[in-house]
Amino acid sequence: MNVCIVGTGYVGLVSAACFAEMGNNVVCVDVNPAVVKTLREGHVHIYEPGLEEMVRRNSQEGRLTFTTSLEDGLKDALTVFITVGTPCREDGSCDLQYVHAVAREVGQKMTSRKIVVDKSTVPVGTADQVRAIVAAELEARGEDIPFDVVSNPEFLKEGDAVNDFMKPDRVILGTDNPETAEAMRSLYAPFARSREKLITMGIRSAEMTKYAANCLLATKISFINEVANICEKVGADVRDVRLGIGSDHRIGYHFIYPGVGYGGSCFPKDVKALITTALENGHTPSLLQAVDSVNDAQKLSIARKVEEYFANQGGVEGKTIALWGLAFKANTDDIREAPALVMIRRLTEQGMRVRAFDPVAADNTRKALEGNDLVEIVSEQYEALDGADALAVVTEWNQFRKPDFALVKEKLSAPILFDGRNLYSPSEMAQNGFAYFSIGRPNPKTC
Ligand code: UDX
Repeated sequence: MNVCIVGTGYVGLVSAACFAEMGNNVVCVDVNPAVVKTLREGHVHIYEPGLEEMVRRNSQEGRLTFTTSLEDGLKDALTVFITVGTPCREDGSCDLQYVHAVAREVGQKMTSRKIVVDKSTVPVGTADQVRAIVAAELEARGEDIPFDVVSNPEFLKEGDAVNDFMKPDRVILGTDNPETAEAMRSLYAPFARSREKLITMGIRSAEMTKYAANCLLATKISFINEVANICEKVGADVRDVRLGIGSDHRIGYHFIYPGVGYGGSCFPKDVKALITTALENGHTPSLLQAVDSVNDAQKLSIARKVEEYFANQGGVEGKTIALWGLAFKANTDDIREAPALVMIRRLTEQGMRVRAFDPVAADNTRKALEGNDLVEIVSEQYEALDGADALAVVTEWNQFRKPDFALVKEKLSAPILFDGRNLYSPSEMAQNGFAYFSIGRPNPKTC
């Protein structure tokens, strides 16, 4: 099958590489000539395990090509995927200008039947807008070329996106047209271990499914973070509580780890967008509003513990904190909505110095925090500890799981550790002589 993918961000590039891997001919279109040049040279401009190798191999074998020309991309393709950005506006709504622009250009340039696929996460009703835009452009050209629009939301986790695409839990196909549904099912059949994984539904239900899935996952995280905060107050241990509730199979153990709040390009944006959609349609989504505000507060949970600790030493001003982890989670260089950044801004506003390390997110963070003289990003994990008064671990990178605690202790001016991901055992930390503060677990000194 010939496939055109418009937009080579995480979703577009992963989809393109995986479709090509299954033997399809894929043309990727991006407006940015620098990105197209990089990709043509076999390099990937984003960090995603396994992606570069897959892109390179499929490019070499001629199934995956890159261009800035949508005309070239559309020429032979039946399916055209829209995978451009849908950033969040100040008011929480979704900015659809890039999606609309692609729809316009498709309508202006298509010369044969197309299935236009919305893969970007877009508010309910967007597929209808895309259909209207393409139709208007065709009408303006006086052309009557058949086309259809499908909602096919993605469920890719950064850091594991290739795997998620190759072995999906489900593929959602939002269309009422049986012929379109069959073409989409045939494209996705090689990825689905059984046909039941290809779920066809109405276009608005498909759009809503994406938001409902991400909002439920975000709710699980805010829920367990709320429970963790209560645990801290009442002397309970959230690790045990998670095991206790997760053993009920209706609840489960997965995706219910407390921490520093959810970040990334999806959950914060999607929760806010669904709140906006609900309000615009006359419903007050109290639960989602609470999920959002619990998360905002949770991103500051470690900063608050740091402030409390140093309160009786004249506050954090003039002190230095070493910070391990900047990305919003492990295995990505993505710092969008990252709790570490929120924490850094809060502590530096009060005059605290930060020495931070992240295996892959350093460059992105340098750009994001440019001009903040209190922050230094270092290139080695233990170098961050030089001259620091305490260590805070904010991202759960594997290399932070078993550190050399003797070296940590030697380098810090005092053995104080704040753990935003519950990576270490409170009792072991107490044995190692650390003042240790984590999320939702009793402080070892008080056990
Ligand atoms: C998410 C969805 O999982 C994916 O299906 C969707 O397509 C895009 O959004 P992603 O943003 O890449 O993927 O990250 P994910 O692994 O889901 O984590 C999101 C955030 O939740 C991270 O900040 C992570 O640290 C946090 N999290 C996750 C927790 O705090 N606790 C958990 O138990 C799980």
